[in-house]
Amino acid sequence: MAMISRDSVDKVKDAADMVEVVSAHTELKQQGQRFSGLCPFHDERTPSFSVNATDKLYYCFGCEASGDLFRFVQEQEGLSFPEAVEWLAERYGVELEREAEDPRAEQARKRRTRLYDLLARTSEFYASFLRDSPKASKAREYLAERGLDREVLAEFGVGFAPSAWNQVRDQAQRAGYSIEELRSAGLVQKSEKEGSMYDRFRARIIFPVRDPRGRVVGFGARGMAADSKPKYLNSPEGDLYRKSETLYGIDIARGPIAKAGRAIVVEGYTDVLALHQAGIREAVAVMGTAITPEQLKILGSLAKTIVLALDADRAGTDAMIRAQRVAGDRGVELRVAAMPEGVDPAEMAQAGELERFSELVEGAIDLPTFRVRTVLSRSDLASGTGREAALTELAPVLSVMGEVVGRDDLIREVANRLDTDPSLVSARVNSAPLEPPPRADATQRDQGEPMIPQAAALTPRELKERALFEMAIARPEEGARVLGRLTDDHLSPSGRRVAAWLREHLSAPTEGLPHDDQDFSSLIARLVMAADDQPYSEGAMELNFMLLERQRLEDGISAAREAGDHEESARLSRERAELAERITHADAGLRSS
Ligand code: CTP
Ligand code: MN
Repeated sequence: MAMISRDSVDKVKDAADMVEVVSAHTELKQQGQRFSGLCPFHDERTPSFSVNATDKLYYCFGCEASGDLFRFVQEQEGLSFPEAVEWLAERYGVELEREAEDPRAEQARKRRTRLYDLLARTSEFYASFLRDSPKASKAREYLAERGLDREVLAEFGVGFAPSAWNQVRDQAQRAGYSIEELRSAGLVQKSEKEGSMYDRFRARIIFPVRDPRGRVVGFGARGMAADSKPKYLNSPEGDLYRKSETLYGIDIARGPIAKAGRAIVVEGYTDVLALHQAGIREAVAVMGTAITPEQLKILGSLAKTIVLALDADRAGTDAMIRAQRVAGDRGVELRVAAMPEGVDPAEMAQAGELERFSELVEGAIDLPTFRVRTVLSRSDLASGTGREAALTELAPVLSVMGEVVGRDDLIREVANRLDTDPSLVSARVNSAPLEPPPRADATQRDQGEPMIPQAAALTPRELKERALFEMAIARPEEGARVLGRLTDDHLSPSGRRVAAWLREHLSAPTEGLPHDDQDFSSLIARLVMAADDQPYSEGAMELNFMLLERQRLEDGISAAREAGDHEESARLSRERAELAERITHADAGLRSS
């Protein structure tokens, strides 16, 4: 389908009733200009979700979900942007105009659609083969023995691939698909000897992997013999199937996850099936790799708490501690339910021990605590060198946590276990070397290991500039003046983008936001919503500006020192001293008024 015109998108936005759209998901009460209610993005008892009906924006003070009308529909209905526009256009009777699509893009889109169709029909074939074929009786018995019933197998579309070499290939070719399409969909592979193409999946149980919208993107295929090599054969990585961006079971679990405000992450296919069968519907699987930022993003948009019910060994890695920081910025908390060694949820289910699994999930602890306790438990605390080694290992872990709530408790716990004074532990933490910077090289990605995200909590500079932007939005006239005085040197990279945007769009900041950059759009929406609550005074605005100015001077001083330019650094230092005086003055003035 060709691109919907910008004009049509605006018409849809004008026609749609934001309050009505949101009210389908949560009950709203009017309070002046605002509407508020329980947040539909997370589970809560007191309302922290707020809707601005005029600008058609939403913001949750609890989980920080935010965005405009379209984003709301996308998230709540699981739609892409164009689909959300179509969905709204239909409801509000707007006729959409489309721009002529770039022929190249149109071709690419048609090709993808065909690949999705091919995967969907192949998946259906595998499922019916498992259900009905006499040749799949062993597979049916195998699954029954593992305690998986027909309903759950059907719901997840589990199937069986025949042992024939060409069945999928021949069927698809008869239906008009080319060998090239079969290969792109990951369904055939080249034989080494003859160079001909044959079915990739043969005589294996098939677990279709679907995206959040339920489209099949690939398969995991388990051999039934205990010594099958490999135990699981997966679809090759390609345009449609990227293991690191997919969660097994997400299409079925997304509703329950949003309702419960919690996701449970397990290792494998059979774990998900067993848990869903037992009524634990918030379970999804990472398919045997460490959780990635992409996967966190998907889960974080649905729930505030993510419980990792993974192998104890992998759960506390550095990668996850850093992942926690990304998650934390989205208001998401990672917790660890350490699984007993060598036992997975599927096995617990089969042994009738899911009660125990639920207890582990309920008792899940935050990651830093988990990591600290793991180190303590495997250290030799009886000896001095053992305690010293433990402290050396723990200091960077605690240091990387930053000044979060609970760190002091953890420091006390460590001091207690090491039989030393908390202040000594603190000192070590404060002087701990920073953990090595994240690596994000290709090899790591190929192995499905996480691309480690950059640390994400807001810097002091970002906090100040955001307050200033909010004031500028609240008072466009004064705002325009202060934005004019801000230079790039005052701002963080994201702040520069926001400032540039606001200089052009201060009277209506959310109009015409780029729909292909949701993080940016969502940030603007959040600033606009928060602007209503930002107490404004000329003095406060000026003070914020001066604080950014001080930051700019400090950067300048460091740069001059580094370059050995003493004159410049002395000049800037004098400026800073003057400014500091004015700041103290302004601050005192604000406090007394
Ligand atoms: N996995 C994989 N390729 C492998 C082995 C494992 O992709 N060669 C992924 C699968 O998604 C699998 C998960 O890692 O579900 C966990 O692996 P494992 O614990 O070995 O398998 P189980 O899911 O427990 O499978 P089963 O219950 O059948 O033993
Ligand atoms: Mn397992």
